[in-house]
Amino acid sequence: MASGSDAMALKRIDHVRMFVGNARQSAYFYRNAFGFEVVAYAGLETGVRHEAAYVLRQGHITFVLASPLRPDHPDSSRLIQHGDGVQSIALEVADVGAAFEAAVARGARPATPPTKLEDDHGVYEFAEIHAYGDTTHAFVDRSKYQGVFAPGFQPMDPDRYSPRTFHPVGLAAIDHIVANVEEGRMGDWVDYYSKIMGFSLLASFDDKDISTEYSALMSKVVADGRGRIKFPINEPAHGRRRSQIEEFLEYYGGPGVQHIALATGDIISSVRAMAANDVSFLKVPPAYYEMLPDRVGTIREDLHELAELGILVDRDEEGYLLQIFTKPVEDRPTLFFEIIQRRGAKSFGKGNFKALFEAIEREQERRGTL
Ligand code: FE2
Repeated sequence: MASGSDAMALKRIDHVRMFVGNARQSAYFYRNAFGFEVVAYAGLETGVRHEAAYVLRQGHITFVLASPLRPDHPDSSRLIQHGDGVQSIALEVADVGAAFEAAVARGARPATPPTKLEDDHGVYEFAEIHAYGDTTHAFVDRSKYQGVFAPGFQPMDPDRYSPRTFHPVGLAAIDHIVANVEEGRMGDWVDYYSKIMGFSLLASFDDKDISTEYSALMSKVVADGRGRIKFPINEPAHGRRRSQIEEFLEYYGGPGVQHIALATGDIISSVRAMAANDVSFLKVPPAYYEMLPDRVGTIREDLHELAELGILVDRDEEGYLLQIFTKPVEDRPTLFFEIIQRRGAKSFGKGNFKALFEAIEREQERRGTL
């Protein structure tokens, strides 16, 4: 069915839209802690009456942070339900109408039909389908739009932020975006991505790979044909205590995006800069670094520097990767970020799962949610 797969030819992740309680303050956080540039704004001053939205960019990563301006905003209630979190993962396509029609024909639940927004800078077209929980996928085509992001947005007022306080940390691209879904539903969502988006299964982890004394989870990774868009999907498995996935589902009030992995070409300087900006990262015990040379062999980075910053390393057949995880970036123990540098490895750090989950469980213990 060539026409079907062509209709769904996904170019890239265009942006991630987060719905938050106070977009102005979230923009400040992602700018000053994560090093994003605030490039565009929509709100009362630009003629948008129902919400304020900030477009943040670093490398090829674009986040949109939006907050309702009035209680009758159609998405206001999701703040009570979910707190701050990812509302939509937008995928760039060549033909929004074709992608939307193909998705719906293959069983996707429609959210917003193909819609054209127009201003002096051209036409921006998008449509949306429902995914897990209250998360959606948007299909966007900005090839006929020359403005700063989309109609309604204007370049950020240069007086708003001082260039003196802007320090990018070297984050370059979105590596993968992970979903947490309910127990028993992982397979359904793998089917959703294979049937609707034409993704294939890239990797599977069961509770033997991912279990500690207390908790367990299962995970499958789906990816588009070119391996550029990777979506791991987790579900809880039975353990002695409550798993981190169950904690997420309870505090997020259902399935949603658990973490976004951001790729950097130099993880040591990215993490050093973020730590200096007070970003909190998960820490593993010092014993992890004593065992590291035996486990991963020769690597280019200085072990002491990795240990000082808490950066983890794992190796697969194709190379190695370095990764580190932030603590949740909201008060609810929900969305967090991964910073990752790949040196050939295409995997996800399976060798770090145990040390990592034990670190997460120490945090759960402190929260009384284990
Ligand atoms: Fe990850």
